[in-house]
Amino acid sequence: MKIAVLISGSGSNLQALLDSSVRENIQLVVSNKASAFGLERARKAGVPTHSMLKADYSSRDIYDQAVAEYLNQQAIDLVVLAGWMHILGARFLDVFQGQTINLHPALPGQYPGTHAIERALKDGVERTGCMVHRVTLEVDVGEVLGVSEVEIKPTDTLAELEERMHSAEHRLLVSVVEGMVKGVQALS
Ligand code: GAR
Repeated sequence: MKIAVLISGSGSNLQALLDSSVRENIQLVVSNKASAFGLERARKAGVPTHSMLKADYSSRDIYDQAVAEYLNQQAIDLVVLAGWMHILGARFLDVFQGQTINLHPALPGQYPGTHAIERALKDGVERTGCMVHRVTLEVDVGEVLGVSEVEIKPTDTLAELEERMHSAEHRLLVSVVEGMVKGVQALS
């Protein structure tokens, strides 16, 4: 199974994948920000990188189509959105629906969109979590493939909660992607 990981920033979740058994399946890392630190992590691990900036395309649709075409040219089987902060629309999903998964720092049905960790902390809830789901046209909705709950302590700062969330995300993402790779291997 050939995997592309799409990132926009630090890439700590990408790092967790690079440090796991699925490293050999990761063919490519794509960023929509040329300065994303995750690109450094990929280069250090010897994985080819590619930056695709939306500003270089005339519209969102044309950009989404270009991303899909690029990944298709590389014969990618599974697209993993790991901190990719751009909503991919129909032009992308026409090609990769069912083959794209997203990591989101909230439990299913809660805090779709950006700043999910911050919003849970502000709401004063005792628990939040993270999930991996298949990507559909609706944002942060789609078949849930894995969930991990994360406790919010009354004294938590945003940085403390983010750190606990990221540890849970790293374990969850690796376990879901490893499961998908093993599932495909078992069928072949
Ligand atoms: C992660 O917390 C991920 O869940 C979140 O961005 C962060 C990326 O961290 N993604 C979203 O909020 C998508 N809706 P990383 O760059 O260190 O992996």
